[in-house]
Amino acid sequence: MTLPTKVKLVDVGPRDGLQNEKEPVPAAVKIELVHRLQAAGLKNIEVTSFVSPKWVPQMADNAEVMAGIARQNDICYSVLTPNLQGFEAAKASKPDQIVVFGAASEAFSQRNINCSIADSIERFRPVVEAAHAQGISVRGAISCSVGCPYEGEIAPERVGLVAKLMKDIGVDHIYVADTIGVGTPRKVQAAMDAALAHYDLDHTAGHFHDTYGQALANTLAAMEMGVWQFDTSVAGLGGCPYAKGATGNVASEDVVYLLRGMGIDTGIDLDALVDAGQYISGFLQRKPNSRAATALLNKRQA
Ligand code: HMG
Ligand code: MG
Repeated sequence: MTLPTKVKLVDVGPRDGLQNEKEPVPAAVKIELVHRLQAAGLKNIEVTSFVSPKWVPQMADNAEVMAGIARQNDICYSVLTPNLQGFEAAKASKPDQIVVFGAASEAFSQRNINCSIADSIERFRPVVEAAHAQGISVRGAISCSVGCPYEGEIAPERVGLVAKLMKDIGVDHIYVADTIGVGTPRKVQAAMDAALAHYDLDHTAGHFHDTYGQALANTLAAMEMGVWQFDTSVAGLGGCPYAKGATGNVASEDVVYLLRGMGIDTGIDLDALVDAGQYISGFLQRKPNSRAATALLNKRQA
């Protein structure tokens, strides 16, 4: 077991975190959240998605949010683009990276992006080509890598299959997503292993929702395999509109606390990250969904 010495976190709070909010969050608030994340030292931020506003109304202000960010050269700003129409719309915003999102479950693929797994790959193919032609790298999400809200348990072979399909069309990086947070360490490791048959460690990440409180354990289990890149969400915000009942990604604050305690470098200032989480939680009128943030905020008050 060799744990990585540094870990890269992609904060997906502005996108995965906010996409499921029922009340519109103003673009100015989303922009301020991105600014606070970059002030906390995040070098990778998933900002928004260029999807149908009929499907996900909360992301309809995608171009406005991207245009409003005071960008820093050393930060990678990514956006979701499910098809060529989304990529064309995103292009003017100059994302550094785009994300195509497929699934290891047929039913979830249909519900989330309205097509089969095979069709999704055909939709992604020209997106990957167009992105590469612009020098933009592509991440591929494999949703429901452990379990699906419609199909139940998912076999690791299906993760491997989608990883291979993504590799074949030139997706640069993939991430194994536990969309509904049902995974436990051994199952997550098996899904990771299947993905790692097609992508190396530098091009494979974990994206764990925390519905059953397992995401931190799953993060550590993936790190035991050498995985060093994870998506996390400030204040544990989020959920997917097409995975009812699923909660947000593992809180960025909890992961940073864990890594800091283990002497693993993230380059992130935990106090500033807690401030960012407090900012967005305050706007949403709830407490941060992060144990570490709650403890640190209590300590500040004491
Ligand atoms: P569709 O209805 O099959 O698309 O939707 P279509 O090509 O048939 O077009 C229908 C209409 O949508 C047309 O408009 C298009 O212009 C429009 P109309 O003529 O009816 O007015 N349209 C678009 N509009 C804006 N942007 C676009 C776009 N494409 C078509 N890119 C589509 C297919 C993929 C668009 C739809 O299913 C969709 O938007 N789905 C979004 C789902 C989504 O955002 N889910 C949440 C993100 S994924 C997630 O959270 C999981 C992840 O975190 C990993 C994990 O945890 O598992 C990534
Ligand atoms: Mg997600």
